[in-house]
Amino acid sequence: MAIDSNPDWWRDAAVYQIYPRSFADANGDGIGDLPGIVSKVPYLAALGVDAVWLSPFYPSALADGGYDVDDYRDVDPRIGTLAQFDQMVAALHEAGIRVIIDIVPNHSGSGHAWFQEALASPPGSAARARYIFRDGSGPDRSVPPSDWQAAFGGSAWGPVGDGQFYLHMFDPAQPDWNWDNPEVRAEFVDILRFWADRGVDGFRVDVANALAKDLSADPLPSAEEIALVPAGPDHPLYDRDEVHDIYAEWRAVFNSYDPPRAAVAEAWTDDPARRARYAQPDGLGQAFNFDLLWAAFDAAEFRRVIERDLALARASGSSSTWVLSNHDVIRHASRYGLELPAELEDRRALGRGWLLAGGRAPVEDIDSGLRRARAATATIMALPGSVYLYQGEELGLREVADLPDAVRQDPLFRRSPGYDVGRDGARVPLPWTAAGPSFGFGVGSAHLPQPAWFGQVAADVQAGDPESTLNLYRRALAARRSLLTRPDVRSAALEWLDSPPGSLHFRRGPWHCLVNFSAVADLELPSGEVVLWSLGSLGNGRLAPATTAWVVG
Ligand code: NOJ
Ligand code: CA
Repeated sequence: MAIDSNPDWWRDAAVYQIYPRSFADANGDGIGDLPGIVSKVPYLAALGVDAVWLSPFYPSALADGGYDVDDYRDVDPRIGTLAQFDQMVAALHEAGIRVIIDIVPNHSGSGHAWFQEALASPPGSAARARYIFRDGSGPDRSVPPSDWQAAFGGSAWGPVGDGQFYLHMFDPAQPDWNWDNPEVRAEFVDILRFWADRGVDGFRVDVANALAKDLSADPLPSAEEIALVPAGPDHPLYDRDEVHDIYAEWRAVFNSYDPPRAAVAEAWTDDPARRARYAQPDGLGQAFNFDLLWAAFDAAEFRRVIERDLALARASGSSSTWVLSNHDVIRHASRYGLELPAELEDRRALGRGWLLAGGRAPVEDIDSGLRRARAATATIMALPGSVYLYQGEELGLREVADLPDAVRQDPLFRRSPGYDVGRDGARVPLPWTAAGPSFGFGVGSAHLPQPAWFGQVAADVQAGDPESTLNLYRRALAARRSLLTRPDVRSAALEWLDSPPGSLHFRRGPWHCLVNFSAVADLELPSGEVVLWSLGSLGNGRLAPATTAWVVG
């Protein structure tokens, strides 16, 4: 089943995110690699995904898990070669799976040739104008140009040592590009073409909302002043209107290919309506919708998010995306099992601090978390739009919350000690087999230690168990794929039906999805064929608590 030329494939695709360093290690050096991905193509095909999205695989010092790119046109030698990349694309395409790659345009890695050239060049030089350099203040210019804080902690300005500082909104090893510079713009257009010419089907655009900046004020506004300005046209750093000029130019590039290349924006905006702008057809085309990450496992919250986001996607001419897990957030099987003290209920304000809710090893109801995760996944798979799945969620993996501090790699942990444990717990190499030195991840050890319980949830264990999470995902993706070919499903708008409090019931033509969010009561199903249970069946036409069913009527 090779891929077809359907230009709209991304609108309802099931996309599987691969974090390459932690997916599969073919040569046993502890780091996942491209041949490892090739070896798992049959697994991905059997899972039934339409596309994979690869997190960065470029040469990198790994100051931020590869989101510090030193060369945008190559593969990290620890991960593979360009020839192996081509082989991987061919193998995935052969299996009918499209390829989306991560593009990181807000910042490079500090090892990038242009940043090294900038450091070696004098203030005011053309080399420095590709990044954002400013004079320091104070008598000896040793004070940063402003008090802005980087996302991972510490000053957002790195000293050069010659009276100038460079801006880094993330790690000091991630200098921000100057998008006012035409050379930078042209360079990225060329990079996009480089990968599109290699057959890449789409791009995931990292920090898409931060490229356009206005640092013309003198002096620069303080962090306190900026905090009062909502992200948008008046904010110097985030979600400025001119950022869309960049994506209009990119869209022209994408549309010069047949089929047009797809793109999805990672744009964490406070206002969902502004997020929709990134998804316009003359822009990137789609934007991640992270709203369910903040929603409790609660019928009313889910319904509010779903209704609003479907309307926004429709209005922007796009389709929604649904995300429950990725490499930046707590795996949803854990998130739904955490017992949050009442005073910590504002999950959004907490960010990843959730994981600290109960200390380093949070209080977690493992059974309930997994049960709810399965129900939530079956819900998003029934919604109009595309679903983005994160490697390992099909095994029901939980966050590895008890990694020793000494092995943690995430700059979020290193730069904010004690405040945020960081994201490594969602990035532990996958367990493929119950036995073996790294549970089948490779033939040696893994770059992050795997917990003993990985042996019980390994892919080979689950493959043989019809009730496993892996088989639920396979069944759900197969049923979804076949239902989406039905004209009476495709032409139907989502319709809500009445259901008891604590539950949701919607349908798309004949395809009904019922979700019982409640912890206690069961729920009666409509008549029709039950094509999916997220967790067993009560056997009497009733839906158990924390369960989802699909019924085709
Ligand atoms: C978003 C990526 O998903 C995250 O992993 C990274 O740390 C930041 N952008 C910075 O590139
Ligand atoms: Ca390897």
